[in-house]
Amino acid sequence: MAQQQPVAIETRHLGRQFGAVKALDDINIEVRQGQFVALMGASGSGKTTLMNILTCLDGATSGQVWLNGVDAATLDEEGRREFRARHIGLVFQQFHLIPYLNALENVMLAQYYHSVTDEASARAALEKVGLSSRMDHLPSQLSGGEQQRVCIARALVNEPPLLFADEPTGNLDEENERRVLEILQGLHRQGRTIVMVTHNPALGGYAERIIRLRHGRIVDDAKPPQDNATADGAATAIATPPSGEPTP
Ligand SMILES: Nc1ncnc2c1ncn2[C@@H]1O[C@H](COP(=O)(O)OP(=O)(O)OP(=O)(O)O)[C@@H](O)[C@H]1O
Ligand SMILES: [Mg+2]
Repeated sequence: MAQQQPVAIETRHLGRQFGAVKALDDINIEVRQGQFVALMGASGSGKTTLMNILTCLDGATSGQVWLNGVDAATLDEEGRREFRARHIGLVFQQFHLIPYLNALENVMLAQYYHSVTDEASARAALEKVGLSSRMDHLPSQLSGGEQQRVCIARALVNEPPLLFADEPTGNLDEENERRVLEILQGLHRQGRTIVMVTHNPALGGYAERIIRLRHGRIVDDAKPPQDNATADGAATAIATPPSGEPTP
């Protein structure tokens, strides 16, 4: 079914060099709208470099990138900022929350960058990730898992079609990891395109496709074994939608 969808992300002969280091070399990827892709590979294999290019935070040194049909090379700095605001949601391993703003204000800040300060959508986004009762908490008053869910709410508040997550559960315990992945899966079910970097093979099982990088090149691009079902509870998580969270 996903094969029928339009292309969300496409790269052709994409390369990124830092001096003599070929961080990315001849990357050819096509991701259809609605796909949930895990990006895996050893430390230094180029995952973050690729994510930075796919989110318009960095440019390629060779090759081409299209995001939702837009050739990234045609965007100037202002164009990239605008494109990011309308099309891209980002979740990081380090939460990057503003310490003196509460959860609601942190989510509203994302909207401020997008020049729409709409408290109602910020509240709705926090409700979607199960944080209705934590909106007035400062980051220091939230658990790691709750902080990451604030970040997901912040990434979602402008309803971006493309969601990128770089090690989103890297700082979380197992229970919070499961919650965050269930939220991502719920978003996937709603048709969002998701690219998630992970080191953990068990987490790759949440995605429908795994792209593996080694030394800046793609060495494997395949569905995980058993098509989404893995050991370590990932298969069970698929069958269990996030509890108590209203779907939009
Ligand atoms: N700004 C930079 N200047 C010079 N070299 C860089 C820069 N950014 C990345 N590199 C190099 O490019 C390669 C890929 O780095 P990247 O951060 O993409 O790896 P990664 O797969 O995300 O690793 P990790 O799992 O540790 O986060 C590494 O060899 C790194 O040293
Ligand atoms: Mg990285």
